[in-house]
Amino acid sequence: MTNDWGLKKEYLHSTRQNLWNDDYFEFLVKRVWKIDKPVKIIDFGCGYGYLAQMLMTLIPDGSSYKGIDISETLIDEANEIFKDCNKEISFEVEDMNTYEPESEYDLVICQAVLRHLSKPLDILKKMISAAKKGGLVVCIEPSRPMENAGIYIESDKYNPFENDGFLRKKWMDEIEAGGRDYQIGMKIPVYMEQLGLSNVGVRINDFVDFVGIEGTSEIDSFLNNHSVDMKYKNSKAFVAARCHVISFGTK
Ligand SMILES: C[S@@+](CC[C@H](N)C(=O)[O-])C[C@H]1O[C@@H](n2cnc3c(N)ncnc32)[C@H](O)[C@@H]1O
Repeated sequence: MTNDWGLKKEYLHSTRQNLWNDDYFEFLVKRVWKIDKPVKIIDFGCGYGYLAQMLMTLIPDGSSYKGIDISETLIDEANEIFKDCNKEISFEVEDMNTYEPESEYDLVICQAVLRHLSKPLDILKKMISAAKKGGLVVCIEPSRPMENAGIYIESDKYNPFENDGFLRKKWMDEIEAGGRDYQIGMKIPVYMEQLGLSNVGVRINDFVDFVGIEGTSEIDSFLNNHSVDMKYKNSKAFVAARCHVISFGTK
């Protein structure tokens, strides 16, 4: 599969329709991270600006947001989506590997980015260096074994263990071939603490994708988005808890 996310933008859009409960994200922003004053935000690997769409409605007026991403296609799309937005928001094409941030942000965030990188720890260090003293660093990343365990399909044929051997090999090969870490979500809080962040906390995204028998197009996207075999297409119900891990700490 290509690493150019500009070529996978339909997949990106489709998965983002079923990723968060809005009330849970609001709970994080207002109650857990307690963002009640204007903040300056940077989003590493922002894609087409999905997190910006969620954040900008929740953070206090006077806040600003900058998204960086290596994909020109996604940054163009983000600029198009926000072209009439009257908030202070900008998107830039940048490669995180060479990007040199200044420590000036109150909130440094990424979602589903470190999982795809060969040196996630280097990028986490860079994210921390972009935060002001007292600033918050947030990483939202999957843990593939948890995600896999969160799938249930109502069918006589369904065997939740059928791909275990294949997945174990795939995940180990990914690590050995260059560091893509299938457990990154669960490791980040440990790294955050080791890198000197304080008040490190961890939450789990509570969204569960549930599709009953009705709605064929939803079933197609469920199968695609959760990499479920098409042989289950005619099953009676589909449930998947992605269990993305939300780790955060203060610089
Ligand atoms: C799974 S997508 C997530 C996008 C976005 N955070 C979201 O949740 O919708 C991963 C993103 O990381 C970006 N990315 C990967 N490597 C990068 C790099 N070296 N520098 C900047 N962005 C990168 C990709 O272009 C892609 O947009």
